[in-house]
Amino acid sequence: MDRFEICGGTTLNGVVKVPCAKNSYLAILAACVLSSGEVYLHNCPKFDDIEKMLQILSSLGCRVKREENILILNCSQINNCVIPKELAKKIRSSIFLLGPILGRLKKAVVTYPGGCDIGSRPIDLHLKGLKYLNVKITEKFGLIECDASSLMGENVHLDYPSVGATENIMMAAVLAKGVTKIFNAAKEPEIVDLQNFINKMGGKIYGAGTDTITIIGVDKLSSVEYTPIPDRIIAGTYLLATASCGGDVTIKNVEYEHIYSLITKLKYSGYDLNLKGDTIRLVSKGPKNAFGSIETLPYPGFPTDLQPQGLVLQTVSNGTTIIRENLFETRFKHVPELIKMGANIITRDRMSIVTGVKKLYGAEVYCSDLRAGAALTIAGMIAEGKTILNDVHNIDRGYESLEEVFNSLGANIKRF
Ligand code: UD1
Repeated sequence: MDRFEICGGTTLNGVVKVPCAKNSYLAILAACVLSSGEVYLHNCPKFDDIEKMLQILSSLGCRVKREENILILNCSQINNCVIPKELAKKIRSSIFLLGPILGRLKKAVVTYPGGCDIGSRPIDLHLKGLKYLNVKITEKFGLIECDASSLMGENVHLDYPSVGATENIMMAAVLAKGVTKIFNAAKEPEIVDLQNFINKMGGKIYGAGTDTITIIGVDKLSSVEYTPIPDRIIAGTYLLATASCGGDVTIKNVEYEHIYSLITKLKYSGYDLNLKGDTIRLVSKGPKNAFGSIETLPYPGFPTDLQPQGLVLQTVSNGTTIIRENLFETRFKHVPELIKMGANIITRDRMSIVTGVKKLYGAEVYCSDLRAGAALTIAGMIAEGKTILNDVHNIDRGYESLEEVFNSLGANIKRF
């Protein structure tokens, strides 16, 4: 298992470019199953979760080729409707394949997916939505067997605007007969991206980005060339790292409207941000006033995937911040690690109260999941002395050599 050795106390200076969004890429890769043509995807980042998704696609009969940073996928001969258990256990987004496999092959067998350990992460909304579309589902010996021979468009109301359930139902409905409407749909930018990708292949989806999405079934999807949107969580991680460490960083390839919830908080706290085109520049002399409150919410609210990194900034900010984590019940696993580094945090259930201290101190810490890992890397960079961060394979799931990016800005991080 790789670790980081982080020598803290460095500022960050320079220019970084944000890669394509992991969460867009994963949904779009799943949607490739719907296409009978060839799909060219540009700027494919090297994230472990994407590699695992590609392994699953290959196991289903999809031909996968990489030419530099272009992925070429051909799912025309796809014939296997069973997602291998050992691969499904490795990534949560394996469940996103259920809808497209059903649309294409009219049957599928999956197991409960794995992924980051941040809460119970049920899939009841996915399965309930598919049942509305006339999919017959039986669960036996840990396997979920689905029969979509009578797949049919229908109105679906989600009890909660789940990102994954919205995407799964959208994809199942694309090749179904009739019209599907999803009410109380998730509104994340990655869902708009998925709609744009599918429509470019000949799909008829309208309304993504609002709480009602309409999908008119079509017979077939064809070839396409596409570039997914930039990763808003990585852009937010770079912003929070610069605010925490101090420095002058220009972040390129950002859709700043996608992280306005964070930008607003940074501005309110007194940070100097310059937004221009697809670029954000943050000039910081180090932590300023605390945010006061952070409440994670579905988009366009503050993203749960930036809560750990946002919390780290609060540990050294001026004042107290109350953080409420509404999405994932155990997403404060970075807190005990930060306390080892000298942070002043009280956590009760889904609430953390963070009071800023003058300094964090290096310690040996563990990252339990992807974003906790990014957060603890930032903590190591601001701490006095040396931090050993264990289990950094979790970070590689959704960042491309995070240590090299920060080192290019002046950090001192060694992987060993
Ligand atoms: C996606 C993102 C993840 C992000 C999350 C919330 C991907 C690959 N992952 O995850 O990075 O943190 O959105 O923005 O896109 N829920 C249920 N039943 C279900 C499904 C979800 O109760 O069937 C609950 C979850 O436990 C959670 C909430 O709904 O409390 C939100 O989950 P959801 O939006 O589905 O997240 P994911 O799609 O798993």
